[in-house]
Amino acid sequence: MNVLIAEHAGFCFGVEKAIEKAYEEIDTNVINGPVYSLGPIIHNHQVVEQLERRGLRTINEISDAENGTVIIRSHGVPEITYKEIENRGLRLVDTTCPFVKKIQRIVSEHHAKGHRIVIIGNRTHPEVIGINGWCNNEGLVISETHEVEKIPHDETLCIVAQTTMLIGLFQSIKNELANRIQTIHWYNTICLATQDRQQTARDLAGKVGVMVVIGGKHSSNTKKLAEVCKGYLPNETYLIEKYTDLPLGLFSEEESVGVTAGASTPKKAIENTVELLRAISTGDKWQIAIDGPAGAGKSTIARHLAERLHFVYIDTGAMYRALTWYIIENKCEMDNIDQIVTLAHSVRIDLKQDRVYLDGKDVSDEIRSLQVTEHVSTVASIKDVRKAMVKLQQKIATKNHVVMDGRDIGTVVLQEATLKVFLTATVEERARRRFEELKNKTETTYDEIKKQIEERDHADETREHDPLIPANDAVHIDSTRLSIEEVVEKIILLFCDRIKLNSRK
Ligand code: C5P
Repeated sequence: MNVLIAEHAGFCFGVEKAIEKAYEEIDTNVINGPVYSLGPIIHNHQVVEQLERRGLRTINEISDAENGTVIIRSHGVPEITYKEIENRGLRLVDTTCPFVKKIQRIVSEHHAKGHRIVIIGNRTHPEVIGINGWCNNEGLVISETHEVEKIPHDETLCIVAQTTMLIGLFQSIKNELANRIQTIHWYNTICLATQDRQQTARDLAGKVGVMVVIGGKHSSNTKKLAEVCKGYLPNETYLIEKYTDLPLGLFSEEESVGVTAGASTPKKAIENTVELLRAISTGDKWQIAIDGPAGAGKSTIARHLAERLHFVYIDTGAMYRALTWYIIENKCEMDNIDQIVTLAHSVRIDLKQDRVYLDGKDVSDEIRSLQVTEHVSTVASIKDVRKAMVKLQQKIATKNHVVMDGRDIGTVVLQEATLKVFLTATVEERARRRFEELKNKTETTYDEIKKQIEERDHADETREHDPLIPANDAVHIDSTRLSIEEVVEKIILLFCDRIKLNSRK
């Protein structure tokens, strides 16, 4: 895929300085006690976690620091915080961005002259809270053009902007106030880095089919960049924190994509995203195969994966279950193989958005009954039944990007899958999960469920046709002690690596 990167993207000078200083303090400052950051040093989880692993402690109040050094981050702080740091006898490292410092100075001077301060910005953002703390918190904060009504007519005004505001908002507020007769001191304090990022993002969004904006969920300037891009590509702008957040299923038909990043996004995050996007060839079709025993978490994980990646989820177990339910409904004996095979060929099974349909009837709830669970492995062990189901599953996979779970996906159904995972967990854990799921819906006990799982494991693993075995090239994941989110993240990482690897072949 053709990937274009905005001319100005990623770390700005103020953020870079703050990070550098933080590393310097943790790595070299051994005589001054612990090093604290007042609030997360930047709005980027990955960077904050990395620094915290090295020893940086994030605090919310100065009173949380016992002794040692406090770093003031690039967003800056109210005037009073400097006093608090001094009163507590703490060492101060000030990494307030020089552009923010300048706004604090402007505000402080005009406030001293008795002028009314107006801050164009987000009132909950730390930079704005900090600025307002240099005019005794008497500043009027506005974030939308219509709010100019709140600005008094009878005072001299000093108007500044948060450094990361949209330049268009600043201009439209200026236009709204053009006819006021009072004295207004205007300061366009939107920083150059922000203006450059917004301008180059705008240029790029006009040229490509899709825009990817990389940055922290709480990063103001990143969100603003996404807004700029949405002006051109309302439904094709994706805001992500890291490359594993990319909804890859939506990208395989794209010819060109633009990438930009907020001022608190590290270079590595941009490089990883660009590398992955470049590895995609137009028209790629991807398949993730997940096999494993009952209760290992296959369907939950597969569903989450499909949602995150924008793939189609295919629950093949549900297909065997639907057929089993149909067989029971038709009063067919479980040892009447000929009739079962005839029924398998005569019925139509469709999967649509998590629901299962049998000849058009929604049977999603019925197929989870204990009676169906008890007989499904017998039905699934019949060779001609499997043949019919496998054919149907393969047909669905040719048309979509799929996450498919079952028992024979990696070994039989999708032998060429992009990624194969064999998901397991101890039988006790699997029985516990199933029991939790079923206890309010059906009358059953943990022991009963555990026994049923063991029997199903045995039947699935020892059957003659397509038994449950891991494919040779499957990655094994034991989910016993992992959360759903951890397993999903692990699989997406593996999958992205696979796409990159395949593109090098
Ligand atoms: O995944 P679930 O527990 O709903 O599957 C029900 C049963 O369907 C399994 O125990 C297995 O016997 C059968 N099955 C299969 N091959 C698949 C999926 C499920 O044999 N691909």
